Amino acid sequence: MFNVSLLKFKEYVDKYGHLSPIESGYDIPFKIKRVYYITKVDKDITRGYHSHRKLHQVLVCLNGSVKIRVKTPNEEEIYDLNDSSVGLYIGPMIWREMFDFTEGAVLLVLASDYYDEEDYIRNYDFYLAEAGKRF
Ligand code: TYD
Repeated sequence: MFNVSLLKFKEYVDKYGHLSPIESGYDIPFKIKRVYYITKVDKDITRGYHSHRKLHQVLVCLNGSVKIRVKTPNEEEIYDLNDSSVGLYIGPMIWREMFDFTEGAVLLVLASDYYDEEDYIRNYDFYLAEAGKRF
């Protein structure tokens, strides 16, 4: 789907556990300026409901699982993130919703820029209007 793809990170597995390195600009297609994580989400909660105008992000579910619905005006896909060595790249102008967090799920987000509320489109009709010019 346009501006959405799965990334597979290296994973070093031994009897001591699993280790996945993520190097900015190499393992993901941008320089990381911000990291945040989402935890303790109740199972009936859906969050997100926005698009970014310019931001690039990679979502990695470090523990448990979470589903991510991504949309453009023409397409919709749902990804089940349940592997800490897999990232979901979401580029600009993609509507996203996160739901079905399992208990203890930890969603790590790597972002290409600092937090900027001006970069958000939080109204779906406004998103369709703005994205309609680009798709
Ligand atoms: P928001 O992006 O709306 O969360 P989600 O899309 O996952 O539901 O952010 C929730 C709140 O956190 C909002 O008040 C803005 C704040 N926030 C920051 O201050 N800095 C950040 O880097 C992020 C991602 C959010």
